[in-house]
Amino acid sequence: VSLRVEPLADHPAAIPRLARWQHEQWAALNPGDTVEARTARLRRQHRHGIPMTLVAFREDELLGSASLVEQDMPETHPDWTPWLASVFVAPEHRDGGVGSALVEAIAAAARSLGVRKLYLFTPDRERLYRRLGWHALGVEPYRGETVTVMVRTLD
Ligand SMILES: CC(C)(COP(=O)(O)OP(=O)(O)OC[C@H]1O[C@@H](n2cnc3c(N)ncnc32)[C@H](O)[C@@H]1OP(=O)(O)O)[C@@H](O)C(=O)NCCC(=O)NCCS
Repeated sequence: VSLRVEPLADHPAAIPRLARWQHEQWAALNPGDTVEARTARLRRQHRHGIPMTLVAFREDELLGSASLVEQDMPETHPDWTPWLASVFVAPEHRDGGVGSALVEAIAAAARSLGVRKLYLFTPDRERLYRRLGWHALGVEPYRGETVTVMVRTLD
């Protein structure tokens, strides 16, 4: 059965689960953030614009999501924009290409919006992104972790 990747703006029913998944995954990195605040942000996603979240489904089962955001490292790289952020696949659906498909769908959407350089940071998934055409710009501390900042050229 084929994978569908579509705008979250067309699937508001997915918001509560996504907000919980994201909160459990990233609460430690974002002290003070709440499920309610995430829910509010997820409700403001554009269908084709920034910020935009894409969701992956197989049949009608929600598998994961990824987002295109204006800014993800405001303290250290305020001038770099936009960013791929919040790539998440439910644990039972990992290692089958869903994460890669979400990353590629965000890159394609960004390209269609005229974006020429897309950024991300990752603590530990550099290999996944490299395989998808991303290049490391550097390794640096971020909120108590060590992360690799990467870029993908889209033109
Ligand atoms: C990171 C994450 C989104 C990857 O999602 P995923 O669906 O497992 O991603 P993929 O299946 O495309 O790739 C994962 C592995 O499966 C393998 N894989 C890729 N496509 C595959 C396919 N079609 N069939 C089988 N295996 C495949 C790859 O070898 C890859 O391994 P590698 O990344 O170690 O090289 C997921 O692990 C996750 O949600 N983690 C928690 C949140 C997180 O860390 N997010 C990223 C922050 S930067």
